[in-house]
Amino acid sequence: MPLLIVKSPRKMQTLSDSLRSDGKIIGLVPTMGSLHGGHLKLVEIALRKADIVVVSIFVNPAQFGPNEDFRKYPRSLKKDCLKLGAVGANVVFNPSMSAIYPEGFDTYIDPGRTGEILEGARRPGHFRGVATICAKLFNIVKPHFAVFGQKDGQQLAVIRKIARELDFDLEIVKAPIVRTEGGVAMSSRHAYLSASDLKKAEVIKQSLDLAASLIKKGARNAGAIEKQMRSLILSVPDVKIDYISFNRWDDLKELIRLSGEVMISVVVVIAGVRLLDNKIIKI
Ligand code: PAJ
Repeated sequence: MPLLIVKSPRKMQTLSDSLRSDGKIIGLVPTMGSLHGGHLKLVEIALRKADIVVVSIFVNPAQFGPNEDFRKYPRSLKKDCLKLGAVGANVVFNPSMSAIYPEGFDTYIDPGRTGEILEGARRPGHFRGVATICAKLFNIVKPHFAVFGQKDGQQLAVIRKIARELDFDLEIVKAPIVRTEGGVAMSSRHAYLSASDLKKAEVIKQSLDLAASLIKKGARNAGAIEKQMRSLILSVPDVKIDYISFNRWDDLKELIRLSGEVMISVVVVIAGVRLLDNKIIKI
């Protein structure tokens, strides 16, 4: 079937109802568009498990702070649809702003503490916006599963939490981080960076690899590992560290002594652009 573009939430629900009654498995890949190899990997993973893959493209204002880049966030619907057609996605759900947030819209999902730490502390209300749009997408697309990238590890943890705690009847699938050749986690915000800035960003993954090798050699003290990661990152000019954090996967409890499954998160700022990366390590 050629790529179908659906704009209306009601039409999407009707389509999903009929697919479900035909016994089809529906997979959802939520995105904000400006698609790159990371997003397309999620689509590939979904295609392996589903009969019909729906990719949503919606730049969600509710997850952007007042001083963030909602207005200038890169948008490229035509190019996105070409890429999605080429990989074999079936449906693009691309609603209008007023269809999603009609005037007077006032109902939000608060994901609690998991959404208040790390990115949530820097971007108040961000995960409330993410949780709300994802809940709406789950109710509109009615997927059997939805795929999220580990790239946004905290987002994945928040979505798993709301799906569990609010009894959403779907599976949340974790997809691995897709990187550039130099090892930088792909991001739509790379559009804001020069080639030399991107080169500098390679140190992020190197710092995560350094942490992994220290842990392999027996290091368990988060502070000591962080110190070595910091000095590696700060050896690259113009790279600022926002934070480095060690959290238990997937309730995100902060860890001082490492054990079990640990997510190491690194956020740096290069040329005013925040870049996120992480690694999940089993100890
Ligand atoms: P967006 O930033 O467009 O990302 C959509 C999905 O692609 C997310 O699950 C994200 O983790 C994943 N992704 C992005 N870069 C990736 C990479 N390099 N490797 C693997 N996966 C990657 O995340 C959002 O949109 C929004 O918050 C959304 C969930 C759509 C809600 O508005």
